[in-house]
Parts: sequence; C-alpha cells; structure tokens
Amino acid sequence: MSICVVILAAGLGTRMRSKRAKVLHRAGGLALIEHVTSAAGHVIEHASPSSILVVTGHQADEVEKLLAPMGLRFARQTEQKGTGHALACARDAISTGDGLLMVLYGDTPLLSPATLLRLRDLQANSDAAATLITTTLADPSGYGRVLADADRNVHAIVEEKACTPAQRAIRVINSGIYCFRAELLWKHLGEIQPDNPAHEFYLTDIVAIFARHGLRVQSMHVDDPAELLGINTRIELADADRILRRRKTDELMLSGVTIERPETVCIDPHVRAGADTVIEPFVRLLGSTEIGEDCRIGAGSILESSSLADRVIVKPYSLIADSRIESGAEIGPFARLRMGAQIGADARIGNFVEVKKSRIGARAKAQHLAYLGDAAIGERVNIGAGTITCNFDGEHKHKTGIGDGAFIGSNSTLVAPVEIGAASYVGAGSVITDAVPEGALALGRGRQVNKEGWVAKKKSSKSRGDSK
Ligand code: UD1
Ligand code: CA
Repeated sequence: MSICVVILAAGLGTRMRSKRAKVLHRAGGLALIEHVTSAAGHVIEHASPSSILVVTGHQADEVEKLLAPMGLRFARQTEQKGTGHALACARDAISTGDGLLMVLYGDTPLLSPATLLRLRDLQANSDAAATLITTTLADPSGYGRVLADADRNVHAIVEEKACTPAQRAIRVINSGIYCFRAELLWKHLGEIQPDNPAHEFYLTDIVAIFARHGLRVQSMHVDDPAELLGINTRIELADADRILRRRKTDELMLSGVTIERPETVCIDPHVRAGADTVIEPFVRLLGSTEIGEDCRIGAGSILESSSLADRVIVKPYSLIADSRIESGAEIGPFARLRMGAQIGADARIGNFVEVKKSRIGARAKAQHLAYLGDAAIGERVNIGAGTITCNFDGEHKHKTGIGDGAFIGSNSTLVAPVEIGAASYVGAGSVITDAVPEGALALGRGRQVNKEGWVAKKKSSKSRGDSK
C-alpha cells in the first residue's frame, strides 16, 4: 500500500516567545523539523523524498531553504488557522490515491523510525480509518486527551482548553502522530469546524467525525513516552536536547569511544569518532567533525567541522574549526585553529598559538604564543615563542613561506609577503621584510650596545648634583 507523509510546520509557536518559527529552533544539533523529516524518510517506499510534504507558514522561506536539499515538497499555509486547516493546505500538492497518509507535527523531534514503521504496518493491516499513537503521561498538561474504549478504539480527542474537569484528569494523550486511510481523510476533513475558544480547525476533531460516520479509529499505545515529547516551550526544547545528546553519546560509547562525564559533552549527530578515543568532560564536537582512533580530546575543547587522523592529542580548552590534523600531532592547551588550518603528522601547536589558513609541516613546532596566518610552513620547522606573521597590510592578505627545517627565533615578526629558505635561522626579535636564502642567518634588529661602567658614572654625577 502506497504511503505519503505530511508534516505540519507552519505555526509560530507562541509559547516559545521567539521571533523564530518554532520548528527552526535547534535540539541535538539540528532544527526540530530536520529530526522529523529524517524520521519520516524511513517510512517512505523506495526512499522517495517527494512523497514527504511539509506545510510551511511562519518563516516559510527559511524552513524551505533548510529542507530543500533533501528533495521534499512544500505547501504553504499563509494563515495559521489550526492543524486541521494546515493539513487541508497540503491536499492539492500531494497525490495519495487509495493509499495511506501519515501526519506528523514538526515539533516532535524524538520520534524513532521504528515507531513510525510500526504505526504504518498496524494501519495497513487493519480495517480502521485511522490509527493514532497515544501514550500515558504522569503530567499530561498541554496535550489533547484521548477518549477511548477498553478495545483501544478512540471516539474523540479533546484539546486541553476544551476539557471538562473529568476529561482533564485523563492521562492518556494524543501524540499528534497519525496514519490515515487517505481517501477517508480527504472525504471528511472539510467537516471540521472551528467551534472552540481558539476558533481553530483542530485536526483532532476528525476522530469524533469518523466516529459519527461509524468509521473506526484505533490507538497504538507506546509505553515509553520519551520519543513523543512535543516541544512547545524552551524548557521542553532543553529536555529534547538532553535526550538527543544522550542518544549520540550512547551510540559513540557503544562503538568504542570513552566519554568521561557524558552528560557534560555535546556532540552533533553527524560526528564520527574511532575506537579507543577518549573525550574528556565539557567537550563540544560539532558539524561534520571526524576523529580517528586513539585520540584524546581535552576538557572544554570545541571542534567544529574538522578532521583528526589517529593518535591526535588535543589538550584542554582548544578551539578547532574547519581544520585538518594529521596523525600523532598535539594541539593545545588553549590553541586556536581555524579556516582550513592543516597540521602535519607529529607536529606540536602549543598554548596561545593561533593558526589560520596555514599549512604546518610534519614534526614542525610552534609551542607558545604565536600567530600563523596565510603561511606554508615546512617540515621540522621551529617557530619560537611570540612569532607573528604580519599577513595583512590593511587592504590585502599576503603569504609567508618557511622552508623545511628553518628555525624562527622568538618574537620574530615576519612581514608578508616573504619567503624564508629551508634550514635557515632567523635571530630572535627580528623584523623580517626580505627573503631569507636557504641556510642563511637573518638578523633584522638593532645591534646591542653595552656601555661599560655606565651605572657608576650616572650615580656619581647624581651625587655631585649635576643631573637635572
Ligand atoms: C497538538 C494536538 C494535541 C496533541 C499535541 C501533541 C491539535 C489541535 N492538537 O497540540 O492534541 O496532544 O499536538 O504534541 O492538533 N501547525 C501548523 N498550522 C497551524 C497550527 C499548527 O502547521 O495552523 C503546526 C505547528 O507548526 C506544529 C504542529 O502543527 O508543528 C502542532 O501545533 P501545536 O500548536 O504545537 O499543537 P499543540 O497545541 O501542541
Ligand atoms: Ca505542540
């Protein structure tokens, strides 16, 4: 039986108290809506994303731009008149024939594909007009309450605002996840009326409408409510984030990564890490970061969209973005790599060293207090403490080249564009403005002058009252 999925994501989400549409808020490293579309992808036959349609409204352009690369389809709900109205907006854009239509809300990011597949199969193998997922909550506030008989046939869903005190006490709630026989849904959807205090078209009213027509709605009760959490407030957003982060750290730990104090680390869904790598507390691994085997990521470090080969050590409090580090290199503590920094095998980048858009050769060292920008630095180069590449002249960026085995003395200022030859020496404190030939010693500083006996002379002239 064919199946399409419609995801409702047009609402602003008033309870978020935000200028941003609710479904764009992020938890677990992705926008809420991205979690839902990715779960939906698993129930579609032949993985054909055009069978998933997202109803957009608030910040529709941003939502569609975010999801467009996935090849989904969109329908607009220009005025938010409720979930029933939102679903009606999808009707002309999706052809469901006599198949199934699954409806999801864009604010339930914890859904597992397995649960959605179970829902699909339960509906496909039944004579019901619809199946909806329910669960029992200790605190059901905010959710629609489910009125059902002992056989799990549902007669109505009552929104909290419309509940009688007795209905409010019901703890079985509507998760907002439904699978319909599409034909019957479209046939009766127009019968929903906005006869509630909010004057909205509640999709949930379809259940009572089906019941009136003698059509059966069954429930699929899920015992663990965690994956059904709907995000309405920022407190629930933080709860979802915690659960998603926990899922990711569990996945990595089961695959052989040690994570110390996993509740303190934050790892995005696409991050990968190899076996026997150790992640210390308060680390953030973001974007497409990939870490090899036997690495150690020190406490408080933040790695974004970077790749580390095997046996890389990142010492605490280092920031690494869009960079590549080869095997055996050691970075930090307090180092910063960014914008395409490439660090060679067994190189050392120490504390308070910033590397931007530069290539550092194998076994090179810059251990303390340096800025290396737009530089190509060879193998085994030693960069002394306080070395600065002056890469910017106020208008343009310029390049610095340093050949293999060169030694750059401490506190050197390398004024780019400049080339420093292989195996050359730059004396400490030099300002280098011209090319240094291979094997040369370059000194670019004032020559030291010693004035013998100067202090004694000064003292005696003072006691004679000469000075001043
Ligand atoms: C809804 C259900 C409630 C259920 C709960 C589960 C209704 C009437 N109520 O309530 O029974 O327990 O979800 O989480 O459906 N949306 C639109 N257009 C609109 C209104 C909403 O696209 O005009 C979208 C929102 O962007 C959101 C989703 O529908 O992603 C759900 O809307 P929301 O206002 O959060 O519904 P709840 O009050 O949580
Ligand atoms: Ca909601």
